[in-house]
Amino acid sequence: MFGLLRPALFALQPETAHNLTLSALSRLPPASGPAADPVLETKFAGLAFPTPIGLAAGFDKDARVWRQMLGLGFGFAEVGTLTPRPQAGNPKPRVFRLVEDRAVINRLGFNNGGLEAALPRIRLHPRLGVNVGANKDSADRIADYVAGVRAVRDRAAWITLNISSPNTPGLRGLQGEALPELLAAAAQARGEQGPPLFLKVAPDLDDAQIDAIAEAALASRLAALIVSNTTLARPETLRSPHACESGGLSGEPLKAPALAVLKAFRRRLGARLPLIGAGGIASADDAYARIRAGASAVQLYSAMVYEGPGLAARIATGLAALLRRDGFASVADAVGVDMRA
Ligand SMILES: Cc1cc2nc3c(=O)[nH]c(=O)nc-3n(C[C@H](O)[C@H](O)[C@H](O)COP(=O)(O)O)c2cc1C
Repeated sequence: MFGLLRPALFALQPETAHNLTLSALSRLPPASGPAADPVLETKFAGLAFPTPIGLAAGFDKDARVWRQMLGLGFGFAEVGTLTPRPQAGNPKPRVFRLVEDRAVINRLGFNNGGLEAALPRIRLHPRLGVNVGANKDSADRIADYVAGVRAVRDRAAWITLNISSPNTPGLRGLQGEALPELLAAAAQARGEQGPPLFLKVAPDLDDAQIDAIAEAALASRLAALIVSNTTLARPETLRSPHACESGGLSGEPLKAPALAVLKAFRRRLGARLPLIGAGGIASADDAYARIRAGASAVQLYSAMVYEGPGLAARIATGLAALLRRDGFASVADAVGVDMRA
């Protein structure tokens, strides 16, 4: 089905195609999703998902189609990034397909309708997480994360603090000195009974930054790290005419760097903090490699642009076969096996 629609979608601007896709998806009746193979059941951070294949933030920024995405075979879904106040984002065009590279560049800049408008569409569901961020013109960015955590703490199964968008000037600075303060403020806003907090980091980190983030994550009561967001790097291998657009690069060219950063975090953290792998995951082999490198689960977005929304279910089936082939009784048994000395 997607194969037939793809040429028509690719004739449109990527953002127009995305909005059409969202409106078509929102008309689908919400379904509970295909029954997953028990070998794929995934538990970490107090959460339980039928498969470790998740929808990454940014696809459903305003929480319009998450039920449908779960119905299409995603094991879990993260909506957002939502900011306290609505925000238009950067001038268009601001999303580019790099077809020859199976990649995407976006400089959307947290376009979203704001937390308050999205709240009625966010219902407590064990497989739904909410990703929060700061407004571009905010005078106090930490206060924006606190507002986000407070707004959704009663209806998110987990909350992701996104400090790694490259499209809000200065935002990635929160990965540095201010990180302990941000994590403490978010933990306080979450309260004793609140959902687990995840932190989403960039792939563009050096060893010292990785060390500092790992230390801050362990010191606060963070429940998981998402590794990673899009990259500012432009690998020399890129062939598409859009390669020089500014913004965050995702998809196939992000696969190797995101895997490398995930491994770096796993080496520092061992099994002390669950990791979620994201960046260039497009197949069961990719998901399996990320799990073997230390990810308890994975998330994807860009590969769906090229492969359609049925991709999550296909990856899940393939992953179950790979786990069984190698004699693993569960996803958890395979997490980090490539990193053992
Ligand atoms: C068009 C687009 C918009 C995105 N928006 C967000 C966002 O709002 N918040 C966020 O945390 N990540 C966002 N991301 C990053 C993805 O969640 C993901 O971390 C990244 O794209 C790497 O995964 P992928 O290669 O499978 O796309 C966006 C990615 C794309 C392509």
